[in-house]
Amino acid sequence: MQLSTLFLAIASATSLVTAKPIEKRTIGGITMCTGANFTGTCEYRVWPLETCITLGAPFYKNTNTFVPDEGNWFCYPYLMDCGAICRSPTGCTMGPIDSTRPDYRTDLQLQHWDKMIRSFDCHFYTNRTEYV
Ligand SMILES: *[C@@H]1O[C@H](CO)[C@@H](O)[C@H](O)[C@H]1NC(C)=O
Ligand SMILES: *[C@@H]1O[C@H](CO)[C@@H](O)[C@H](O)[C@H]1NC(C)=O
Repeated sequence: MQLSTLFLAIASATSLVTAKPIEKRTIGGITMCTGANFTGTCEYRVWPLETCITLGAPFYKNTNTFVPDEGNWFCYPYLMDCGAICRSPTGCTMGPIDSTRPDYRTDLQLQHWDKMIRSFDCHFYTNRTEYV
């Protein structure tokens, strides 16, 4: 088990909350829910950027809401675990999710990604200034 997986597993056991869709502005702050539009089991946590995080239960392959806080940063959700080899030319990600894509981030089923996310990593945008 990777350290990041263990970290989330412990966090999940101790801090499950019903998240509210309030816009926050914490770099690395992500609200995840198992259901679309902030339904199901939700959790808000602040994650380090530039670090791959493999999801733990109940979010592993079961995340339908993935909402990063506002800011000049984005996340790539992946359909493989951290460290796994991606053999797809599209990079095994659905592409960047940031706070500016309301449909995608609150209802991943629209992208057929509601049962897909196994891991993610987040980065600062280096080419945008509007959310700094
Ligand atoms: C989530 O909300 C959007 C926008 O209101 C809506 O179009 C979509 O059907 C909702 N998804 C679910 C699964 O209820
Ligand atoms: C910034 O870079 C990202 C990743 O390369 C790209 O997807 C996005 O379109 C760029 N945004 C702008 C405003 O150029």
